[in-house]
Amino acid sequence: MTGLALVTGASTGSGFHLAEALAARGYDIVGVGASSRIDALPDQLPQVEVHPVRADLSTSAGVESVWDAVAALDRPLDVACLNAGMSLGGAFIDTDLQQELTMLSLNVTSQVLLAKHVAQHMAERKQGKILITSSLSATTPTPFESIYGPTRAFVYSFAQGLREELREHNVNVTALLPGATAAEFHDRAGMQNTAFGDNSTKNDPRLVALLGVEGLFAGKDHVVGGDRSTRRAAVMNKFLPEQLKARRFAKLSRTHTH
Ligand SMILES: NC(=O)c1ccc[n+]([C@@H]2O[C@H](COP(=O)([O-])OP(=O)(O)OC[C@H]3O[C@@H](n4cnc5c(N)ncnc54)[C@H](OP(=O)(O)O)[C@@H]3O)[C@@H](O)[C@H]2O)c1
Repeated sequence: MTGLALVTGASTGSGFHLAEALAARGYDIVGVGASSRIDALPDQLPQVEVHPVRADLSTSAGVESVWDAVAALDRPLDVACLNAGMSLGGAFIDTDLQQELTMLSLNVTSQVLLAKHVAQHMAERKQGKILITSSLSATTPTPFESIYGPTRAFVYSFAQGLREELREHNVNVTALLPGATAAEFHDRAGMQNTAFGDNSTKNDPRLVALLGVEGLFAGKDHVVGGDRSTRRAAVMNKFLPEQLKARRFAKLSRTHTH
C-alpha cells in the first residue's frame, strides 16, 4: 500500500522540495501552506495523490485543522516533516513584539502541538518517521535575528530528546539543520538589506531537502543541509566560543548602512 507523508510549509522553499523528494519515493502527500499557493501542489506533483491544506500554523486552531485533515483520510501517516517556519530581522529594541510572538507560535508551539498528534499516532502503530526542520542557527547566537535562532535551538533539542523516547516505539526522529538557503525566507523576514539578502550565494533548497529525506530514511539523528562550507561551519560552531560566533553572525545579519 502507498505510504502517506505530511509536509508543512510545502508551497515553496525547502518544504516544497521535501514534498517533491517524498513523492519521488512514492508517498502520497498532505501538503500544508499558509496561503492559497498550496492549491497548486497537486499539479506540481502529479505522480502521487496530493491533499493541499491551507492553515495558519501559528494558531492552535490551524494546527488542529491540519491534524483533522490527516485524520479524515483514515490512513496511517508514515512520514511527517514539521518544516514551516519564519524569521524576523532587525535590532531587538526595534522589532515588532507581536511578530516575534507569532514566530514563537509558528516555530515552537505549533511544532510541539503537531508533534504530539504525530508522535502518538506513530507510536501506536509502532512505525513512522519524523523530520523536524531546525537550522544551523541552532548552533550559534543570532543577533539581529535574535528570537529566530533560539526557536531553532528549541526544535533541535526537542528532536533529539523525542528521538530517544520514540526509539522503543520504532519511530525515527531526525533534525534537519539547513544553512542559509535560497528561498523566500530572508525576504519575508525583512532581511533584504543584510548579507543574507542575496540568494545567489545560498544553498539550493532542493539539495537541502534531499539531504534531509536521505538522512531521515538512513535513521540519522541530525543532518546538516547544505554544501561543504555549510557542513564545515556546523563543525566549527561546536568549538567556537559563543561570543565570537555572535560577533560573526552580526556581521551577516545587521542591516547595511550604505
Ligand atoms: N531559508 C533559509 O535560509 C533557512 C535556513 C535554515 C533553516 N530554515 C528553516 O527551513 C524551514 C522552511 O523555510 P524556507 O526557507 O523554505 O522558507 P520560505 O521559503 O519562507 O517558505 C515558508 C513556508 O512555510 C509556510 N508558512 C509560513 N508561515 C506559515 C504559517 N503561519 N502557517 C502555515 N504555513 C506557513 C509558507 O506558506 P505560504 O507560502 O503559503 O505563505 C511556505 O510554504 C523553516 O523552518 C526555516 O526556519 C530556513
